Amino acid sequence: MKSYTVSELLSQNNIAPNTEVDIKGWVRTFRANRFIALNDGSTLNNIQCVVDFENFDEALLKRITTGAAVHIKGDLVESQGKGQTVEVQVKFVDVLGDSDPETYPIQPKKHSFEFLRENAHLRTRTSTFSAVMRLRSALSFAIHKYFNENGFYYMHAPIITGSDAEGAGEMFRVTNLDAKNAPLNEAGEVDYTKDFFGKETNLTVSGQLEAETYAMSLGKVYTFGPTFRAENSNTSRHLAEFWMIEPEVAFMDLPGNMDLAEDFMKSVIKYILDNNKEDLEFLDNRLQEEDKKKPQAERSEMTLIEKLKFVTDNNFKRVSYTEAIDILRNSKPNKKKKFKYIIDEWGADLQSEHERYLVEKHFNCPVILFDYPANIKAFYMRLNDDGKTVRAMDILFPGIGEIVGGAQREERLDVLKEKMAAIGIPEEDLWWYLDLRKFGTAVHSGFGLGFERLVMFATGMSNIRDVIPFPRTPQNAEF
Ligand code: 4AD
Ligand code: MG
Repeated sequence: MKSYTVSELLSQNNIAPNTEVDIKGWVRTFRANRFIALNDGSTLNNIQCVVDFENFDEALLKRITTGAAVHIKGDLVESQGKGQTVEVQVKFVDVLGDSDPETYPIQPKKHSFEFLRENAHLRTRTSTFSAVMRLRSALSFAIHKYFNENGFYYMHAPIITGSDAEGAGEMFRVTNLDAKNAPLNEAGEVDYTKDFFGKETNLTVSGQLEAETYAMSLGKVYTFGPTFRAENSNTSRHLAEFWMIEPEVAFMDLPGNMDLAEDFMKSVIKYILDNNKEDLEFLDNRLQEEDKKKPQAERSEMTLIEKLKFVTDNNFKRVSYTEAIDILRNSKPNKKKKFKYIIDEWGADLQSEHERYLVEKHFNCPVILFDYPANIKAFYMRLNDDGKTVRAMDILFPGIGEIVGGAQREERLDVLKEKMAAIGIPEEDLWWYLDLRKFGTAVHSGFGLGFERLVMFATGMSNIRDVIPFPRTPQNAEF
């Protein structure tokens, strides 16, 4: 007898009717001592397994409870009831792992996301979280597929880094010194020369600088790995540990970088529209139900799937920082002082309220902002001829705000050195980065996509903690 997944049974690929099947999974519900809804994670849907209770021991049937792991053998037949096309007529059932219906946290009812976050080890046994995590997996595959098909090499940037120069955020120290008994130097400070690596090391905030070294030899590369930021921002869009995709390409300028980012984003979203319909439709319906509970004015204008199609079918709007500032300065919320941070002059850093106004109210589509003031962006971004803006780009998405940050890199040794000196980065710290500009320097560009922000957009989940298996945020590293 052949083993099948629930997905295979429900899609009935090559299974003749009345075939004997063997399946294992977890009981979602057991209704009327007769109908087991079985799920094994292979699909959103359950398979109905029908038990003729006269034929089974009562003690065995009692053990078939929500959450139990079971092994079932039976005949796949056309379903008598509504709601499914096929079902399994059970001939044999074994409880592989009992559950306890009194204490099992995932009851067959609606749970709040907060409660499920506390039970993150079991939350993928719900339809919503299994759908989100299957989509997360599919997006991850689509990303590798895109780069593979477009001539990029996958590069593994180091996770422990000795360079502290990116300036992207506060870092987590990596050390094996005894905190209570750390060796001190003459100045009475911790002596990191005695530490494991003989210097201060941290968890990386970005693989970009290392990826640049590979772009300047292999041409087109990307990283896709975990990154860490110890910023104390307890928002629905920030994690202390998140995954980032960072392509880096030699001989590519900023417009090329924008083209790549737009094509890439469209391609991975199209992939899930084509391949993950069932999960997307489920999440779409879930959001529509949620929406109905809101006042008319707060309801979304588009459904989830419409939003995804909107991104794949429309050009991203490309707007310079200077144009954006003009729009914001003259906007209603700015004039009426509705923004928390009022925009009154060129040079202001954009807050998420401004980004969301541009994307959601003004342009109503994904926006690529470029040519930012040099002093609000990282040192490695290429200085424009005006001497005050850099070839930076941020991509803003509706409901998310910034999803991508990138730039054309400064390839001129003298300009880069000047910039480092101005903000106090010692040349010794980045000698290898400067070498790229000494030996065969060239125009090159890249960007970073926050993977969880992409998963949020793709699933319609509104809290970033709900799109990563085990979120790490301030005061929270359970599991
Ligand atoms: O804009 P960021 O800081 O850019 C960089 O790190 C560059 N080195 C990327 C590059 O050019 N290769 O971060 C890139 C993206 C952001 O746009 C955002 O989507 C995401 O990473 N991100 C976060 N996601 C979750 N939690 C956080 N704390 C994040 N910080 C940034
Ligand atoms: Mg950024």
